[in-house]
Amino acid sequence: MKPILYMAPIQGITNCVYRNVYSRLFDGYDFAIAPFIRNSNVGSAKSKILRDIFVARNSADFELIPQILSKSEEDFISLSKIMFELGYKTVNWNLGCPHKRIRSKNRGSGLLSEPGTVVEILNNVITKIPNEVSLKVRLGGEDNSELRNLLPRLDDFPLKNIIIHPRTGSQMYSGGVDIPAFEECLSLTKHTVVYNGDIDSLETFKRLADRLPTISMWMIGRGGITNPFLPERIKNVKTDANAKIIERFTEFHNELFDAYQKELSGPAHIIAKMKEMWRYWSMAFEGGDRVLKSVSRTKNVNQYTAMVEKFFSGKPELLI
Ligand SMILES: Cc1cc2nc3c(=O)[nH]c(=O)nc-3n(C[C@H](O)[C@H](O)[C@H](O)COP(=O)(O)O)c2cc1C
Repeated sequence: MKPILYMAPIQGITNCVYRNVYSRLFDGYDFAIAPFIRNSNVGSAKSKILRDIFVARNSADFELIPQILSKSEEDFISLSKIMFELGYKTVNWNLGCPHKRIRSKNRGSGLLSEPGTVVEILNNVITKIPNEVSLKVRLGGEDNSELRNLLPRLDDFPLKNIIIHPRTGSQMYSGGVDIPAFEECLSLTKHTVVYNGDIDSLETFKRLADRLPTISMWMIGRGGITNPFLPERIKNVKTDANAKIIERFTEFHNELFDAYQKELSGPAHIIAKMKEMWRYWSMAFEGGDRVLKSVSRTKNVNQYTAMVEKFFSGKPELLI
């Protein structure tokens, strides 16, 4: 059976522009979770906050699931209802965000230390919204036993699935993923679990798939940004020769750059966005760090275009 793949939400990267261009040029993902929406004040600023998930703007051929980051039942309910009206039958609740500012207010992974509050919110929200709910969690905010305390209490809720990133919030992205703790989580829930964390190559995926034979759904984040070919490789849909990889990478870059030139105003914003991309892409090529440095120094779009054209036409060595 082919694995089911989720594109992870990465704020600033896997937005609608990225998802649309990606999906035109690559295969592999079945679902994408959109980066979180948290503003309760959707009334006046509705179009700005929800712009990323407007159906008319989203042309990707994988199913999009919007994400909510909130511990306010009222916001959770009103956002879910708006999302349902927009056409989204599932919403994802973010209980994984590791950022200190969010965690310290007991939101994101910070809420995992309060299993009673999570259960209460779900109790009060699930029956009042038309959408199915999926969860995205870490092992805890600071303590990696928090999720294990919570999981058995979630069994009676009709959740679509639980996406688990086996690190704590305070770890951010450092240290390894805790596979034994993830395995323990599997034994503590009857829900379908999606694995998420550090899938950065086909080899890593295969190793994890061997170790976790009951998992059929996988979420890929940073590894899929650095290597946009990774989902195709995992699904075995395409195996490109190196020359073709550079050609396809160049096309992807150019289409994304064009799309951002239409979407964003002013060279500073466009270059800043491409720099964000190159933080990941630079790891795909030998000498990629030099491109990242050059992008950081680039001031205008023509200079950027010339620099990147030169880089790709020099057939850089691939590290992916
Ligand atoms: C810059 C950045 C932004 C992220 N934004 C979100 C987000 O909006 N919602 C969310 O649930 N996770 C977010 N994440 C976490 C990822 O979805 C994912 O869980 C994490 O990167 C681990 O997966 P990976 O090792 O495959 O990257 C973000 C991660 C990064 C690095």
